[in-house]
Amino acid sequence: MNITVIGTGYVGLVSGTCYAELGHHVTCVDKDSSKIQVLNEGGVPIYEPGLAEVVERNIRAGRLHFTTDLSSGVQAADFVILAVGTPSMPSGEANLSFIEEAAIEIAPCLKRDAIVAIKSTVPVGTNERVRKVILQHTKQPFYTVSLPEFLREGTALQDTIHPDRIIIGAESEPAAALMTELHKPLATQIIVTDIRSAEMIKYASNAFLATKISFINEIANICEKVGADVNEVAKGMGLDKRIGPSFLQAGIGYGGSCFPKDTDALIQIAGNVEYDFKLLKSVVEVNQMQRWGVIDKLSHALGSLKDKRIAIWGLSFKPGTDDVREAPSLQIVNRLLEMGASLRLYDPIAMHNFSQHITHPNIAWCQSAMEAVKQCDAVCLLTEWDEFVHIDLSKASQQMNHPVLIDGRNVYRSQTAVQAGFDYYPVGRSYSKSEVIR
Ligand code: UGA
Repeated sequence: MNITVIGTGYVGLVSGTCYAELGHHVTCVDKDSSKIQVLNEGGVPIYEPGLAEVVERNIRAGRLHFTTDLSSGVQAADFVILAVGTPSMPSGEANLSFIEEAAIEIAPCLKRDAIVAIKSTVPVGTNERVRKVILQHTKQPFYTVSLPEFLREGTALQDTIHPDRIIIGAESEPAAALMTELHKPLATQIIVTDIRSAEMIKYASNAFLATKISFINEIANICEKVGADVNEVAKGMGLDKRIGPSFLQAGIGYGGSCFPKDTDALIQIAGNVEYDFKLLKSVVEVNQMQRWGVIDKLSHALGSLKDKRIAIWGLSFKPGTDDVREAPSLQIVNRLLEMGASLRLYDPIAMHNFSQHITHPNIAWCQSAMEAVKQCDAVCLLTEWDEFVHIDLSKASQQMNHPVLIDGRNVYRSQTAVQAGFDYYPVGRSYSKSEVIR
């Protein structure tokens, strides 16, 4: 099949590459010529483990092409997949201007009976809106399909090649049959449904996962006060098949380019039909509040944070990515700077991206986790990168003036941290004082 993907962000680049890996002929189109140049030179403009190798393999096999020339890409395509961004507007509503622009541009180039599939996360009704836009610019018959994407940053290839399910929103038999055929090799559950339900499945899935996270974070906050251990609670809950163990990791709240944007958008979608989505509003509010636990614990341990020297381990919104969009670290770092703290930041790969958002004379950019903690009054773990999880905590505490460890991702055993000499503040477990006599 000839497949053209519009947009080479996470979703577009990864799914285009995976379709090529399945043996299709794929053209990825992007307006950003510098991105296309990087891709054509064999580079990958995003950090995603394993992606560069698969891109390279498929370019060499002649199955994967990159271009800024939309019309040449679309003319031969059996499937045109729209994977452009839908960023949030200040109201929380998704900005659909990129999708509409793309629809106008592809319309005159579509071949007869082409399938236009929307992979971008779009509010209910957008597929119909896009169909109308395309109809204004072409006389060719074509099909529209909703094809929501469920890949995660950091595990994007695995999620695309081995998805839990494929959702196809189609209103015509031939389109549903062709889409099913295209995804059959992925050997997974394929659900064919109507377009509006497919669009809603994506938002409802992200909103539900966000709800699980805010729920466990509130349970964690209560656990701290009643002396329970949230890790034990999550384990006990997760063994119930109706609940399941995933997305019950308490911490400093969710970030990234999806959950914050999609929860806001779903609240707005509900509001547009005069439905007040109270539960989801609370999920967002709890998430926003959760990050301040780090500051409260620091203040409890150190009193005033003015002129305190604090190390930050991890800046990306989760491990396995250099993405800092909506990362809790952004607000935590800003708040600490406002409070007069002096910060030593380290992340294995996200420091460059982070420095595009915040620079300040009181920030020192460090080359390693150990360098960051030197002479510090406290260290805060904000992203659970493996290198922090497996770090020598005794060695780290010895570098510090005042060994306080705020574990925002709950990754250490209390006993290990206190034996290493830390006053240890996890999430949803009791605070433990160092056992080392200083
Ligand atoms: C999320 C969804 O998981 C994907 O299915 C979806 O396709 C994607 O959004 C999207 O809409 O494009 P992603 O944002 O890459 O994927 O990251 P997740 O792994 O879901 O993590 C999101 C945030 O939740 C991270 O900040 C993570 O630290 C946090 N999280 C996750 C927790 O705090 N606790 C958990 O138990 C799980």
